[in-house]
Formats: sequence, structure tokens, C-alpha cells
Amino acid sequence: MSQRVFIRDLQAQIGNEVTIKGWVDVRRDQGKLIFFDFRDMTGKVQGVILPSAPEAHAVGSTVRPEWVVEVKGKVNQRPERAIQKDKQNGDIELEILSMSVLAEAETPPFDIHADTREVNEETRLKYRYVDLRGDRLQKNIRNRAKIISYIRNFLSGTDFTEIETPLLTKSTPEGARDYIVPSRLGAGLFYALPQSPQQYKQLLMAGGIERYFQIAKCMRDEDTRGDRQPEFTQLDMELSFATEEDIMAITEQLLIEIVTKLYPHKKIQTIPFPRIPYAEAMAKYNIDRPDIRENKEDPNLLAFCWVVDFPFFEKNEKQNGTGGGLSQWTFTHNPFSAAKPAHHEKLMSSKASDADLQTITAAQYDIVLNGYEIGGGSVRNHKAESLLKVFEIMGYDSETVEKNFSHMLHAFRSGTPPHGGIAWGLDRLIMLLENEPNIREVIAFPKTGEGRDPMMESPSEVNPEQLRELGLIVNKK
Ligand code: AMO
Repeated sequence: MSQRVFIRDLQAQIGNEVTIKGWVDVRRDQGKLIFFDFRDMTGKVQGVILPSAPEAHAVGSTVRPEWVVEVKGKVNQRPERAIQKDKQNGDIELEILSMSVLAEAETPPFDIHADTREVNEETRLKYRYVDLRGDRLQKNIRNRAKIISYIRNFLSGTDFTEIETPLLTKSTPEGARDYIVPSRLGAGLFYALPQSPQQYKQLLMAGGIERYFQIAKCMRDEDTRGDRQPEFTQLDMELSFATEEDIMAITEQLLIEIVTKLYPHKKIQTIPFPRIPYAEAMAKYNIDRPDIRENKEDPNLLAFCWVVDFPFFEKNEKQNGTGGGLSQWTFTHNPFSAAKPAHHEKLMSSKASDADLQTITAAQYDIVLNGYEIGGGSVRNHKAESLLKVFEIMGYDSETVEKNFSHMLHAFRSGTPPHGGIAWGLDRLIMLLENEPNIREVIAFPKTGEGRDPMMESPSEVNPEQLRELGLIVNKK
């Protein structure tokens, strides 16, 4: 068997006989001549079967688009008049000498050459593996990998350690509803899937790691939207002995490098990224994630900004059991944030009035790109009494806090350095860099608006034996 040549590398093979493997992208049967576009992960090339290759012709007249083939042929330079300048391999053509079929294919459920964003979402996601073959998703998914690889290299090169934290964990207050997983060995007990690795990364700081990162899967049971999936990916980071400034500086440097190295055609509107106090954002833009682009028509303009000086507490409107305590106050970001150093005393004061509480700002920052919140973080409370105080203000009694957060409190009493961090919503960042209208376009296997995966048909019923083992009885609504 001759060695396979990638379609990308055919330019270097002019005059040679080569073997390529891939899909039939397009087939045009003109009787005596059969033309093809072939496709592999590196690109496309045109091929032709001439009347002088009768065996290839016999095979070529049966194959259809999306069949997988092995093709042996000679790489010919095209005559000047037939050169297609703007097309990959537009100056060469493969003269097909033989063709064999590696896999046949049913007629695709939709045309992968058209804009599949127009295709019914249910159908697209049911046949996601077909959808993924199209140019746009191929590009998005491969560029996603490049961004993640760039991030890994950058952070590993600056003393960060990549650490995986558990997926089977415990329900924590981050603002959304948890996905829960029943425990077989502990009947009536449940794990929760992480809404983020927040507590683990802080415990890693207690564990002396100092600089942690993770490309982390996060699960939140909330309504799906264009920029929201029940399961999404964060670049999660945490640093010991770091100030707000340090964390913002690293974020900014890494974002600028990603854009300049991987998206050089894009322009960052302002460097350093402007910082907008929360109150100003609300007053001027009426939103805490302002779109500050000077020209919204320009698809290559990236207007990053920071939103800072968030109020620590806000009035608790929902009382929905997903983070709020029994008082009228809840956190704006997460309960682990610290107050700005100048406001720490006010936070800790036992007689802070409502008016006082309202004026406490958190050491917290959001990073916003073109009107999307692409990340957020804070410097944390690293002392037990500060964390207890925050929960007390939110109306938790100390017994409840000790019960739910004894691990955090104990860690904080065992020598935890000051620390802080940030998490980026990677899907949103990649969506914006790829000029896509929603994050489903940059996730290999996203879920529908109702949180379903039509391809795997999940969620699905489980068999009664599984339920019995878990001690569960389903009460159908
Ligand atoms: P936060 O909850 O703000 O912070 O999440 C960080 C970033 O994750 C993205 N994001 C989402 N992306 C897609 N689908 C979702 N459902 C979704 N929810 C959030 C957003 C958001 O800015 N532990 C803290 C971070 C920290 O303090 O270090 C946290 O998770 O871009």
C-alpha cells in the first residue's frame, strides 16, 4: 500500500503519483469525464477520471457524495487558463488512476456545503457528525483546539499547574440550579455536578499549588440561550498572593496574545482594556456588560473592557434556594469574594446598616467583549471569619455554614494564603473570535434549547433495575 498524502501537501507532489484518502465532496459526471472534489481534514482538491482509466471510471460512476474513498492519481499542474487562483489547490488537478471505496454513505440529511445555520436545529444536532464535516464547523472546532493549546502553553510556561478537579462533587451556591447524581452506595444521597471548580481551586491554594488552571467542564441547570449551555467550558484560574491587578494583567496579556497570534486580522479597540465601574456601566449603558464598540458593523473589531467595583451584595429577589440565604441580601458574584481592602472593615463590622452594606464593593471584576460577559472573578476571602460574615449577612446561621462549608472554614484556619482568580467562558470567547451568532457553533456536541441531545437521545429513561439499585422512585408529573 502506498503511503497516504494529505491533500494540503499535494502542491509538493506535482508530477508524482500519490494516494489520497478522504470523502467525495462533490461529484460531476460528464459521461466520458467524471470530476470530483475530494476532502480530507487538511482541505480539498479536484480530481478527474479520464476515458483512459476504464477501471477507475467504473468505480467512479457508482460513488456518491460523502462516500469515503482511496484514490491513486497523478498530480498535474493545470494549464494557465484553468487555474482557480482563490481556491486551495486551484492550480493542480489529480488525474485519477484508480479508486476504491472504503465506506459508502446514505444521502446526507442536509447539504453540508450550504450554511447549516439555516438547517433545523433538531436535525443538525441529530446528525451532528455530518454537520461537523462542513467547512465552517471544521474551522471552528480546529481553531478552538488551537486557542486551548495556546492557553495551555502560555500558562504552563508561567508556573501554572493544570489540575483536574472532580465532577462528582457537592451542591454549592453559585447562583444556578445543580445537576444532581444519585449515589448507589449511599441511598438517598446525591452528588452534584460542579457549576464551576470554585471551591476546589480555592482548596488547591490551601494546598500550596499557588498557580492553578484547568480547562474545566461546568454544569448548570438553567435555561439555554444563545450564549448559554447547560454544559460549558471555562478556562479556570486561581493564584495565591495575587491582587486584582495581577489577575487582570495575566488575563489581559493572554487575551491580547490569543488575538494577535491566532486572529491577526482582528483589531483590539483599546489596549490596555478600559475599566468601567459597575455604577458607570449601569448609568451610561444600563447594563453591566456594555458593548463599547465604536463601529458595530466591523466584524473584526474586538472591544474588550473590564467592569469593576461591583456592589458586594444585592437585594435577594428570588429566594429560590440556589444560593440565597434567608435575609434580603445575596451575593452578586459568589459568596467567596472578598470586599475591596478599603471596605473590609465595613463588611466585618457587626453593626453595618443596610445603607452601609449597599455601599460595600467587592474585589471583583468581569471581562466583557463586544457586549458579552466572557469571564469573571475576584479576590477571595481567605479568612474564616470573613467568609462566615458574608454568610451571616445573607441570613445563614453559623451552624448551616459550618455544616456546608466546614472544609473551606477549616482550610482557611489551616494556613491558606491570600488568593484570587478568574474563569473565562471559553465558548463565548471562541464564538466571538469566530464571528458566530451562538456558542452551539463552536461546541462539538451542544444541546438544544431544551437541554436535549437529539443524537444520543439524552436525557433518557433508565431501566427499572438501575432505579431500584439507587433506591429511586420516579414520580412522573
Ligand atoms: P461565572 O459564574 O461568572 O464565574 O462564570 C464564568 C464565565 O463562564 C461563562 N458562563 C457560561 N458560558 C456558557 N454557558 C453558561 N451556562 C455559562 N455560565 C457562565 C461566562 C462567565 O463569565 N467560579 C466563578 C469564577 C471565579 O470567580 O473565578 C464562576 O464560575 O462567560
